[in-house]
Amino acid sequence: MINAPTIILVGPMGAGKTTIGRLLSQHLGREFFDSDRVIEDNAGADIPWIFEKEGEEGFRRRETHALQSMLEQDLPPVVLATGGGIVMKEENRELLKHQALVVYLSASVNQQLQRTSKSNNRPLLKQGNPKDTLKRLFAIRDPLYREVASVVVETDARHPKAVANKVLDAI
Ligand code: S3P
Repeated sequence: MINAPTIILVGPMGAGKTTIGRLLSQHLGREFFDSDRVIEDNAGADIPWIFEKEGEEGFRRRETHALQSMLEQDLPPVVLATGGGIVMKEENRELLKHQALVVYLSASVNQQLQRTSKSNNRPLLKQGNPKDTLKRLFAIRDPLYREVASVVVETDARHPKAVANKVLDAI
């Protein structure tokens, strides 16, 4: 486990990528990165602002750039949580498929809805009915998460620590 590669977490909004990523980074004594925070730091603005000014396409360009720069740096192994839409671009999927440890944290739409209900910084959930949006995104993205991931961990019935332990078991 000491020499385990960078752990990349993928999955929908509300899967717990940030929470689990933090737990893993503490446990492994590794640095934690969250692609959404990297995008915000690079932009000097938050995600709702980026969506408003540059549209989803502008955000996706920034996301690809952030992913590429993080994976191309010669960093020691880290823990990296990604945004739920990272798998929408084929170039991102290609990059992810070449990484040694991509973990799909899966969650039912009801869980996603519950875990995102208090969130104010997810522009895609402000357009129309959030449950319908999450359902529609799930239908498109679930196969894409599975395509890039080498490990799938179901999160619905698990406490965050148990999810983190499942990921550790897979290393
Ligand atoms: C998005 C998920 C968000 C963020 C942006 C778009 C998506 O990240 O990248 O709002 O397309 O699913 P989280 O999955 O961390 O909420």
